Amino acid sequence: MKMSTQRVVLVTGGSKGIGKAISAAFAANGDTVIINYHTSFDEANKVKLELLPGNTSVSLERADVSDYLQVKRMVADILEKYGKIDVVVNNAGIVRDGFLMLMSERDWNDVIAINLNGVFNCSKAVSESMISQRNGIIINIASLSGITGLSGQANYSAAKGGVIAFTKALSKELAPFNIRVNAVAPGVIETEIVDSLNERVKNNFLNAIPMKRFGKPDEVASVVKFLASPDASISREKLFALREDSIDV
Ligand SMILES: NC(=O)c1ccc[n+]([C@@H]2O[C@H](COP(=O)([O-])OP(=O)(O)OC[C@H]3O[C@@H](n4cnc5c(N)ncnc54)[C@H](O)[C@@H]3O)[C@@H](O)[C@H]2O)c1
Repeated sequence: MKMSTQRVVLVTGGSKGIGKAISAAFAANGDTVIINYHTSFDEANKVKLELLPGNTSVSLERADVSDYLQVKRMVADILEKYGKIDVVVNNAGIVRDGFLMLMSERDWNDVIAINLNGVFNCSKAVSESMISQRNGIIINIASLSGITGLSGQANYSAAKGGVIAFTKALSKELAPFNIRVNAVAPGVIETEIVDSLNERVKNNFLNAIPMKRFGKPDEVASVVKFLASPDASISREKLFALREDSIDV
């Protein structure tokens, strides 16, 4: 086992849409990027080849995030190859929209299994090594749907609302070990998920957005990159100094 000198970043579902933009942002930063994919090796490999010409190292790891054993194997493999994982972006997700009366048990279970259990599985699998390192960053991709709740998305809203609550609880649990846990809740972002919507639904969404445009994957990636950067952190020394200042006032 060798210890990578670069930051090692795992992006789940990192070969498509928002995940692809996040993988590209970390690769452009010179980090070692591990793209997790589930079904299409060809798609993931194409992204790897696109990113490789930069000054970075990119590798692929196949795992279904809803399966804890597969996730555990993936994490063990990364630790074996690179010696550490510095950042995990829990991005993998699916939608199976439908009104509750028409929603099958399978559509409920699949959405919870991938969007919510997937975040639990990956966070749990990396937390042991991050705790030993006394260092780590976990970023979960939630959704506005998990804050406001959207009609026709009871499964997705429940899963993403769960991700937000999970993030809050885990950030408190892992803070003493110098591990930051945050969530990002994007609105509607231009990916294949949105391409598949019909014009009426797209217009309804657009009308509710003050800028009258959808977000772009790169915009989400910039926020994620910021949250993983030292700029989003504060050293213990600075924090104590700030607290002392505020006591003086
Ligand atoms: N597009 C939006 O408008 C939007 C808005 C808010 C939040 N999000 C969230 O952002 C994330 C990315 O969404 P996207 O729009 O890029 O979708 P996408 O369909 O383009 O990408 C989803 C990725 O997740 C992967 N994935 C699905 N099931 C998996 C599994 N079991 N194991 C491993 N990987 C799996 C897919 O292969 C794909 O790479 C999701 O969590 C989604 O819920 C998207």
